[in-house]
Amino acid sequence: METHHVTIPIQVCTPDELPEADQALIARAKAATQTAYAPYSHFHVGAAIRLTTGDIVAGSNQENAAFSPSLCAERTTMNWAAANYPGIPFEAIAIAAWRESDGAFLDHPISPCGVCRQSLIESEQRYHRPIRVLLYGSKQVFVLRSIADLLPLHFTGEDL
Ligand code: THU
Repeated sequence: METHHVTIPIQVCTPDELPEADQALIARAKAATQTAYAPYSHFHVGAAIRLTTGDIVAGSNQENAAFSPSLCAERTTMNWAAANYPGIPFEAIAIAAWRESDGAFLDHPISPCGVCRQSLIESEQRYHRPIRVLLYGSKQVFVLRSIADLLPLHFTGEDL
């Protein structure tokens, strides 16, 4: 028997250390939090996706009284991007969030849920292209080279 170790590089920096294009993407994700519909969690999330054309698409979480139909900001955004820019791969995604209790952006990186990771993996597989991930916190940002890095041993259509 052998043990396999998974090593995932995470770049850690302050927001102002990022390249301008990444800062611009984060600004769009932060702005998108204003459109969140979060009457149940009171947690406002914004996501912004930069396409390989340079276009940026942004979205937010949209909740539902029945809870399970709720959509995270990441899936709202990725599905809108896929439907409105068919055939265009995603280059990068930025995510930002704040709570109504204090109204300030989280100071640590916001991390996408497992369902969103699995959904976003589909885009990487579809276009054979990694999506750069920017998890925003006002004090610290995590930068990952792909969604696959966020979901080791993921399931893909290649197994079907
Ligand atoms: N949420 C997101 O939109 N993205 C995340 O990365 C984490 C969670 C939303 C779902 C729900 O509307 C609220 O935040 C609380 O979980």
